[in-house]
Amino acid sequence: MKLLLIIGLWLFSEQTPEVNPRPKPMKALIEENMQLAASQYKLLAKNTPSDRMPQYYEASKDKMVTSSTTWWCSGFFPGSLWYIYEYTKDADIRQEAEKRLAILEKEKHFKGNHDLGFMMYCSFGNAYRITGNKSYKTTIDTSAMSLATRYRPAIQSIQSWDSGKVFKCPVIIDNMMNLELLCWVSAQGGDKTFRDIAVTHANSTIERQYRTDNSCWHVLDYDLSTGKIAGRRTWQGFSDESAWSRGQAWGLYGFATMYRFTQDKRYLQQAHKIANFMLNHKNMPKDLIPYWDFDSPDIPNTLRDASAAAILASALLELSQYSEKKERKTYVAASEKIIRALSSEAYRAEPGKNGGFLLMHSVGAYPLKSEVDVPLTYADYYFLEALHRYRNWVVKD
Ligand code: GLY
Repeated sequence: MKLLLIIGLWLFSEQTPEVNPRPKPMKALIEENMQLAASQYKLLAKNTPSDRMPQYYEASKDKMVTSSTTWWCSGFFPGSLWYIYEYTKDADIRQEAEKRLAILEKEKHFKGNHDLGFMMYCSFGNAYRITGNKSYKTTIDTSAMSLATRYRPAIQSIQSWDSGKVFKCPVIIDNMMNLELLCWVSAQGGDKTFRDIAVTHANSTIERQYRTDNSCWHVLDYDLSTGKIAGRRTWQGFSDESAWSRGQAWGLYGFATMYRFTQDKRYLQQAHKIANFMLNHKNMPKDLIPYWDFDSPDIPNTLRDASAAAILASALLELSQYSEKKERKTYVAASEKIIRALSSEAYRAEPGKNGGFLLMHSVGAYPLKSEVDVPLTYADYYFLEALHRYRNWVVKD
């Protein structure tokens, strides 16, 4: 009897077709994501007053939170619309992108913090790349001038935030992301001082902000009167000595970008070191969606950060372009793994849900209990950028 049962089971298993043994080809997955993004972003536009930008959405309260255009994330919504338009050629999406650029444009004079790159390059940079409209370039040039006013020769760095109750003169790792704006303007025939500032800032960051294990501190707080470091701290991470996940991703992305503009091997090496730190960390989950901080004591019972994953995926694709075959394969495979995880139902919104955002489950500032486990504009932006990069650089027809 037992023998018959075993034979029966064996026959059954031989005849049962395998369940979905092959993952969806990347080209089709990218198409699916872009079409979903187009419909979601029309909803997001509807949910966001015409003089504001989307910030996040609280599903439990069905509450949409929007921001003014001075918020550091104000460039991501228009930037994402441009990425979606570039792929879909949807005229309504382009019209929406143009409308949102029109309300953002005045921020080219903003000097209140270091975030001009995020705000003005992710938005107008993509708009100019796609349309060639010269007025967009003028806006980018002015934005670089505004950002450059925050350079402090005494510390060879760009000051991130103004002096306040907590920090004297903070320089945060996120600042590496604003250097692209400066380098790009110089490379396009603009003032070469912008590039010099970016290079000096990046060099200071390598020398002072990275630990021996190739993780970074979130905040270097300087004393401007002496030019000395007054403290190595965190703002959004678990502790001063922890590795805040998005900060590691910002650094990786920033150094890969700096290598693109300078061909300086130091930046390339730094990017490789950060990639190794992140990808081989004992607390990096198998699907490569990082916990919000690599050193959270609550791992595995704490939140993942989809935004850190999206930035990592996009940065690895850029780094893969400058890597030897073996590393290139590793980085592209890691990026693909992240894109697939973010495209799964665990992270990607169902059509018509999530307030119109594409991805769920990002963490803005966990210790501040702000934007915790919500969709965020920059998670979507870097995810869309990663899809573009994958489509243009990896998937060949
Ligand atoms: N300040 C940028 C961030 O939250 O990553």
